Amino acid sequence: MKAPALASRRAAELREQLREHDHRYYVLDDPKIPDAQYDRLFAELLRLEAEHPELLTADSPTQRVGGAPRPEFKAIRHGQPMLSLRKCNDEEELRDFDRRVREALGRDAVEYTAEPKLDGLAVSLTYEAGVLARAATRGDGETGEDITDNLRTLRSVPLRLRGDGKPPRRIEVRGEVYLPWAGFRKMVKDAEAKGDKPPVNPRNAAAGSVRQLDARITASRPLAFTAYGAYLDSDRGPPTQALGGRHGPLPQLGSGVLEQLREWGFPVSALIETVKGVDGCLKYFERIGRKREKLGFDIDGVVFKLDSLAGREELGAVSREPRWAVAYKFAAEEAETVVQNIEFQVSRTGALNPVARLKPVFVGGATVSNATLHNLDEVERKDVRIGDHAIIRRAGDVIPELVRVLPAKRPRDAHKLVIPRKCPVCGGKVEREEGEINPRCTNGLSCRAQLHGALLHFVSRRAMDIDGLGDKLLEQLVVQGLVKSPADIYQLDAAKLADLERMGEKSAQNLVDAIAASRNTTFARFLYALGMPDAGEATARELARHFGTLDALVAAARDDARTGDAEKDKDRYPKLRAVPDVGPVVAAHICHFLNQNAGAIRKLVEDAGVNWQAPKVIAGGALEGRTFVLTGTLPGMSRDEASALIEAHGGKVTSSVSKQTSFVVAGAEAGSKLARAGKLGVPVLDLQGLRKLLE
Ligand code: IVH
Repeated sequence: MKAPALASRRAAELREQLREHDHRYYVLDDPKIPDAQYDRLFAELLRLEAEHPELLTADSPTQRVGGAPRPEFKAIRHGQPMLSLRKCNDEEELRDFDRRVREALGRDAVEYTAEPKLDGLAVSLTYEAGVLARAATRGDGETGEDITDNLRTLRSVPLRLRGDGKPPRRIEVRGEVYLPWAGFRKMVKDAEAKGDKPPVNPRNAAAGSVRQLDARITASRPLAFTAYGAYLDSDRGPPTQALGGRHGPLPQLGSGVLEQLREWGFPVSALIETVKGVDGCLKYFERIGRKREKLGFDIDGVVFKLDSLAGREELGAVSREPRWAVAYKFAAEEAETVVQNIEFQVSRTGALNPVARLKPVFVGGATVSNATLHNLDEVERKDVRIGDHAIIRRAGDVIPELVRVLPAKRPRDAHKLVIPRKCPVCGGKVEREEGEINPRCTNGLSCRAQLHGALLHFVSRRAMDIDGLGDKLLEQLVVQGLVKSPADIYQLDAAKLADLERMGEKSAQNLVDAIAASRNTTFARFLYALGMPDAGEATARELARHFGTLDALVAAARDDARTGDAEKDKDRYPKLRAVPDVGPVVAAHICHFLNQNAGAIRKLVEDAGVNWQAPKVIAGGALEGRTFVLTGTLPGMSRDEASALIEAHGGKVTSSVSKQTSFVVAGAEAGSKLARAGKLGVPVLDLQGLRKLLE
């Protein structure tokens, strides 16, 4: 069926606008409209495409969500091989490179483009008739892996070339996918909160995120892309790049290619410069070295490329390395030092995390005296002993890491770490539970470290969102004994606060107002704020939705506690495990937490006055007694909203399709759940169908 002209025109218009906003936001870093307005345009396009599926195009901004996991990566043969770079380590080697280039070309002086060497992974993007057709990893240089679905989820990767005019038949764009530090820190935090093994450095994290068979995981990682080269008509063109066509004459220079890429909408590093001769290269190298700490992402050196494309062609490549380019690497940010001690830091959830105390050493522009050891498994695997000589590595402002110890230099009195029986902060009992890597302090909020961590989490933006209660201030409140549990925050008054360091009367009053305002919240936020181990925002929402009231949840945890010792896994924690995505380990943690902290939780509601609106359930709602499963992307409605809608009308939402399921509500890109509904004969509705049921 053909879509009405009006819808078709509007869809094209929306796609154009969204592309422009994506470009401004993700490439130029200069957004022009508020996020909410963007979301509205996006929702409108989703709705149009759902109503008229024939309007959907592969390059639509809505097509950046990952689909269902694939069984494996397909191989993709590169049109042009992906070469590697010759490396040089000092000034002399760089001067040698420049001399060879000049001699081969018979020139006295040449110009180079000087670029930061991004520390991520190389990718190749093929555009056919201006639309992203394929994306591949480097692989062995000739053949890589098909990561098209994954790279489509990166907002900085254009799905279509910008600009009007006829796009080239085919281009292959080369660039780097990497993870900025902020994103890396977030991934580490998320992994630790879940008890997963955190990634060791941003490059590994980026590589792991790109090589995901499930593109939805890639989509959830804050990856960045930057382009640094391209080949036109790549399956037939000359080995060096030549571009252009639409915007006038072919670029003659590498810098011209980069300019063209920028116009097409690719992010190109703003740090790239054209420099004269080897002296220009050396000056650039120094300049970048000074900026390195402030870039916000890892670079491991600088790449110099002969700017003249004709010159590149003349020089060619030997053994997979172009003779016209070189990587000048920074001196390794590694240093040797001594592990003077291994101590434990106590986290919000009581986990004792090992930290190496080092003999201070200057590395990568800063003095380092601590290095993370991640967890006890790592200590064991690396066989770190107190007194060992060790290599540590520092990358930007990422926490320094202990790479390996030097067993040959191990002193006789080096000794293994002893797991403390008492918490180093509060002296409380320490236990190492089955299946847990790190031991835990069992003292809960009576432990100062846990209390401080718990409070920081409690007031954070996505939890109770109390503005103005920072780290330092909380520490004072804890140390002075003014706050012994989250509920005590609500007993603070302006007079008490004004007495604290760096607190005026005005800011004390503002804080009291912010605290008061935070009392009105939602059940899901409240549960998230409690900081149950393993319960992130998503789990908190599921718990809130499933139990509806705090009383119901607390009662379930009380009942489940009696099942903790059951013989078989399936008999343990049945009530908590009825919640979507809550498995036996998570259920055990939540159950334990709720029972241990029942008093503090009740105080928050009864004494501190924290409250939320009960979800409005329409008595005798149209959906009463019916069970729903949601799958795929619903047009203009998030999954949470759809669940809330169903529940408000008395229905129940579960996560897996069974014979008991009354309806499956399916949106775009619905996967295995839809298939299962078909197999079991469960009726399937779209959003309109659901709405009809409500009427
Ligand atoms: S050019 C023919 N430019 O370094 C030249 N590579 O061994 C091929 N890299 O993993 C690469 N930043 O991904 C080039 N500005 C840059 C780069 C860069 C990082 C990486 C590249 C590859 C390695 C080359």
